[in-house]
Amino acid sequence: MVAAAAWRLFLFFLVTAYNLECTESANRFHPAVKLFRKTNGKVVMDNGIVRITFLRPAGDVTEIQYNGVENVLETHNGECNRAYWDVVWNRPGEHIRLDRLRGTKFSIVGKDKNQIEISFSRKWQHSAWNSTVPLNVDKRYILRRGSAGFYTYTILERPEGWPDFEMDQVRIVLKPDSEMFHFMAISNKIQRVMPTAEDRKLGRQLAYSEAVLLTHPGNPALKGEVDDKYEYSIENRDDKVHGWMSKKLGVGMWVISPSDEYVAGGPLKQDLTSHVGPILLSMFTSTHYTGKDLNTRYRDGKPWRKVYGPVFVYLNSVSGRPRRSYRKLWRDAKSQMKKEVRKWPYGFLQSEHFPCADQRGSVAGQLLVGDKYVNQTLMTANNAYVGLAAPGKAGSWQTDAKGYQFWTRANEEGYFLIKNVRPGNYNLYAFVPGIIGDYKFEANITIKPGSETDLGAIVYHPPRNGPTLWEIGVPDRTASEFFVPDPKPFLTNKLYTHILSDKFRQYGLWDRYTELYPHHDLVYRIGSSKCHEDWFFAHVPRKTGNKTYTAATWQIVFKLRKPSFAGNYTLHLALASAHASELQVHFNDKSVKKPHFSTGLIGKDNAVARHGIHGLYRLYSIPVPRQLLRRGSNRIYLTQSRSNDAFRGIMYDYVRFEGPRELLVDREG
Ligand SMILES: *[C@@H]1O[C@H](CO)[C@@H](O)[C@H](O)[C@H]1NC(C)=O
Ligand SMILES: *[C@@H]1O[C@H](CO)[C@@H](O)[C@H](O)[C@H]1NC(C)=O
Ligand SMILES: *[C@@H]1O[C@H](CO)[C@@H](O)[C@H](O)[C@H]1NC(C)=O
Ligand SMILES: *[C@@H]1O[C@H](CO)[C@@H](O)[C@H](O)[C@H]1NC(C)=O
Ligand SMILES: *[C@@H]1O[C@H](CO)[C@@H](O)[C@H](O)[C@H]1NC(C)=O
Repeated sequence: MVAAAAWRLFLFFLVTAYNLECTESANRFHPAVKLFRKTNGKVVMDNGIVRITFLRPAGDVTEIQYNGVENVLETHNGECNRAYWDVVWNRPGEHIRLDRLRGTKFSIVGKDKNQIEISFSRKWQHSAWNSTVPLNVDKRYILRRGSAGFYTYTILERPEGWPDFEMDQVRIVLKPDSEMFHFMAISNKIQRVMPTAEDRKLGRQLAYSEAVLLTHPGNPALKGEVDDKYEYSIENRDDKVHGWMSKKLGVGMWVISPSDEYVAGGPLKQDLTSHVGPILLSMFTSTHYTGKDLNTRYRDGKPWRKVYGPVFVYLNSVSGRPRRSYRKLWRDAKSQMKKEVRKWPYGFLQSEHFPCADQRGSVAGQLLVGDKYVNQTLMTANNAYVGLAAPGKAGSWQTDAKGYQFWTRANEEGYFLIKNVRPGNYNLYAFVPGIIGDYKFEANITIKPGSETDLGAIVYHPPRNGPTLWEIGVPDRTASEFFVPDPKPFLTNKLYTHILSDKFRQYGLWDRYTELYPHHDLVYRIGSSKCHEDWFFAHVPRKTGNKTYTAATWQIVFKLRKPSFAGNYTLHLALASAHASELQVHFNDKSVKKPHFSTGLIGKDNAVARHGIHGLYRLYSIPVPRQLLRRGSNRIYLTQSRSNDAFRGIMYDYVRFEGPRELLVDREG
């Protein structure tokens, strides 16, 4: 007993000493955080570095004072149109609605001299069913001592039995002052001086409202460029910090996302970041690059709760020569991002629904790949993506928006450790660069507070029916290795003329297909064609006139010395994207009415129009009866049959043709 008590006392001192050390050393020189309720329906948090004003009880941010600037937000906008959370939702079968998640009750959740956490909440009322999403809302904001910014997160929940609805989007919108902020940074490479909202109004709208040709920009250097917010989308995996900078003031404003656990669709889902406005977004859920394949349906009175965030809205400043300021602000924002990532999961949130590190668990293991046609021994899943997400089929994490996801990369030997997993029931999923298909570990994985699960060595056997006779592309879930054309010279975003790897972000590439293949569709010859030159990145319709399109049929020509009588062949078609398309496959005989294989109508990811080099991943492994093949030259016809507009289309990730197993020794080609 005494020993236990002494031990507890020791732990107490240890914890206290540690707390003192970390709070005091960071904060000694900073004033305590303060909270004021103003009589005009506002509430203010101030730590001497930033001062943030909220509308009470709605919970919109209306003013951020920083570095001598009265308000870094757009003061030309109304007070409730500067920084807010919102969701897009609908009742089943009804039109889409926007809900700003305005609170009806303000409360102080916690307050001492080191930190304030406040809440703007709303309980759903059945009488409000027409105007508000059927969820209880709790929006939280945290200001910490010595911190140049604030944290925000929102808890959305529905108890059992509440009505059905859909929620296609959850996000935070911040609108920095348009006179101050002109320079945007999304990544080390994607950074530029941006046009203004006014420039877009004066410009010429192109094929859809988001794409505008800048004809009369205030900054003449931007004349003739195309602006489209989707040119600045990025994968969740890479979206840790983005934002805006003011050269004049030497001030930057950023959204830092320390984790991906709360975003929909896993590491490869793309979404908007920042764009003309200036607008700064934090996207948690959206149907961008997925369409309604993303599961945004809340049904059957199933209870649900999710914590979105927290994200950190960070401000920084530099003094000295303004020419250098962009680079310094960006570098500092990245270094702050790394600090936030190291602090994850934050230990200072007051909500019981956000477990801190010691209430979370971990999963470790080693992923191996078994494919005897590549290597007789098991191979290590070098650099594999390994993640936990809601239980489902292999690959279902791509379309999950309701649960949390926890992803990591395996090392060269395939060893992985997924840390800081919230307690819950999951499946373990993986996919491996260079390998087709999706892995799922068969058993459910239950994470408990403090649990450490070691799965040992686990083996992924990717789809394989026989030896590879030929292949096109590399299995990386994108079409980036294929031929991406130059944009029309009068329809460019100059930024991407300097970033060759991101050429696919240019506007209008879909119409270049018909220019490149004016008389006949693409024919790819195994043995002589090259995928980065001869395989167009998107299988789009052929333009036949003024806004009229027809189906394009691509051909793959290959030789077989003699078809084997031992078994069937297999065609693996891995798709990187599909939009309102149907891919039909014919082997050698295009005249048969019923294609030998069809995907049926698939996809709504809109990746062609939105300059994505991929959307959702799909793999079709098609058995090819040997009777359909012949000795000598063979042709596979690929037809995208739903062709009545420019943006329908398929992107291929990878195509592989396999012979029967027995061909292993006697290779053909
Ligand atoms: C709600 O909307 C339905 C139609 O969707 C309408 O019939 C009903 O009158 C509305 N109720 C209120 C309180 O506005
Ligand atoms: C097969 O796997 C072994 C062990 O991982 C490795 O050393 C070897 O290079 C592999 N061979 C090929 C052809 O990939
Ligand atoms: C795994 O969990 C899901 C969802 O909770 C459940 O439907 C399924 O039966 C479980 N599977 C196994 C093998 O326990
Ligand atoms: C193309 O069609 C649109 C209407 O669909 C029409 O306004 C336009 O003048 C046509 N352009 C040409 C070059 O025929
Ligand atoms: C070959 O394919 C045909 C048609 O799909 C199927 O009926 C047959 O069982 C397959 N043969 C083998 C050996 O897999």
